[in-house]
Amino acid sequence: MKTPKFDFLVIGSGIAGLTFALKVAPYGSVAIVTKKNLAESNTNYAQGGIAAVLGEDDSPDLHFADTIKAGAGLCNESAVRILVDNGLAMVNQLISFGVRFSAGERGGGLDLGREGGHSRRRIAHAKDSTGAEIEKALIESVKTHKSITVFESHMAVDLVTMAKLAPEKVLAASTADRIVGAYVLKGQTGEIVTFTAKAVLLATGGVGKVFLYTSNPDIASGDGVAMAYRVGAKIANMEFIQFHPTCLYHPIAKSFLISEAVRGEGAVLKLQNGETFMEKYHEMASLAPRDVVSKAIDREMKKRGDDFVYLDTTMISPEWFPERFPHIYETCKKFGYDPTRRMLPVAPAAHYTCGGVQTSIDGETAIAGLYCAGETAHTGVHGANRLASNSLLEAVVFADRAATSAVELVKHGAPQPGPVPPWDPGSAVEEDELVVINHMWDELRRLMWNYVGVARTDKRLLRAKSRIGNLIREINENYWQATVTTDLLELRNLALNSKLIVECALRRKESRGLHFNMDYAQTDDKNFKRDTVISRDDV
Ligand code: FAD
Ligand code: SIN
Repeated sequence: MKTPKFDFLVIGSGIAGLTFALKVAPYGSVAIVTKKNLAESNTNYAQGGIAAVLGEDDSPDLHFADTIKAGAGLCNESAVRILVDNGLAMVNQLISFGVRFSAGERGGGLDLGREGGHSRRRIAHAKDSTGAEIEKALIESVKTHKSITVFESHMAVDLVTMAKLAPEKVLAASTADRIVGAYVLKGQTGEIVTFTAKAVLLATGGVGKVFLYTSNPDIASGDGVAMAYRVGAKIANMEFIQFHPTCLYHPIAKSFLISEAVRGEGAVLKLQNGETFMEKYHEMASLAPRDVVSKAIDREMKKRGDDFVYLDTTMISPEWFPERFPHIYETCKKFGYDPTRRMLPVAPAAHYTCGGVQTSIDGETAIAGLYCAGETAHTGVHGANRLASNSLLEAVVFADRAATSAVELVKHGAPQPGPVPPWDPGSAVEEDELVVINHMWDELRRLMWNYVGVARTDKRLLRAKSRIGNLIREINENYWQATVTTDLLELRNLALNSKLIVECALRRKESRGLHFNMDYAQTDDKNFKRDTVISRDDV
């Protein structure tokens, strides 16, 4: 097949990828490749909303202070300043793309929700389906641009470096590493196509599927981090995995999220015996920052041998609940729980990846031609713990900046890549042992949940490291012998992400924010008030 050639290649169609694509579209041809359909993304499931300074009682300084406090000493202050100063402009930009936030009296005509760790109401939302509303509007805008071509059911496999173009030439390291495209698996045919571009954005979302229980959809297999790591990019702070405290505990609900905004409207966490407990852990009780709430629930469940705690929602007016949270109301009812009449059983589940591909405040990675934004990126905004509803904001703010930077590169500096050799399938044959892949998936996600979950110890981490090492060896054998499929590619990426999470966790001999190691229960500012940065060359 002919090599598709573009100025910009965008990998991923969540809020970060689409924002970037819309901004660069006037400056060249754009390809968006996305693993499933255009809308399928973490973004599409976002409930609570997007944090921004909109209320009269609020200010960027207050949003800054809340973000820094949640981040437990590791936030990049310049990045946070950019984040909070741009909230209003970005909400207005989304409105200009057609996003309809819920109207109200609280913030310039918008209704503002409240979530854990925020000292003010500052969450713009579209009832409890904010992400779906954002995706819908951005997708409609993308369709109006002739310069954007969308490739659905196309999964990026690996990035292509300049060295691939001229394997026989000796290139300077900086030139050899320049990214000039990606190998992409075409879902419908199983063929691997090489896309070339002058600038590539990775916006593939997070790594939630590494854990057995997660609020994330299936696309969240950390493909971007894995691809970036394999070409030598720097990866930071993978130990900081955020567990959302309140996912519905139900055998087939797949950890359905009960938004923190529900606690913002008065819902209270209770033990199975009906007692409240959060006041023992934090002065904000049920509305404490997420790391505190998840750790407290985990501790209470382990102490009592319980599988869940309750979220008491019955004090919220039964008329208003379905109006404010229609999606949560309907979904809970489908699973047999009417939140206006009975308490909801909830438990923590993996939710958000604070670490990722290290970027500058302009979305640049350590590799020329490669940009990164959204949950895949580590801008330093979240530090050791993300403040609720800061991720949609981070994704738009920094995708927008990455776009500005990529446009400059394409206008002034990027060489047009020449022909890239096609993907070499080697002696690969059809994998007839699907059971092997399924088994490895299950083993990996279970061991990550049990050994690398909310509470860690060195012994558990070392066990995980050794098991993951074995799995990676087996996957690599399979990888080069079998024809690649999305399942095999995702398994390979999940295993690599697991290795990076464990490696970062082992290097941090303290507890801070989302990383809780019972062997080092205290925070150690003297030795560990710094990011954990790793790359291919040192792991
Ligand atoms: P995503 O939206 O995850 O998009 C990633 C895209 O990359 C997808 O299109 C995917 O198909 C594609 N992709 C992945 N791998 C490949 C590949 N190899 N090749 C091609 N395409 C690929 N944050 C908030 O701020 N407020 C909230 O209220 C909120 N609620 C949430 C509720 C839930 C249930 C979840 C799961 C998350 C929530 N978050 C919330 C977090 C937030 O939604 C995400 O951090 C954010 O949407 C990430 O956007 P993104 O563009 O970086 O990635
Ligand atoms: C939620 O609605 O509780 C999720 C918000 C977030 O992850 O920021």
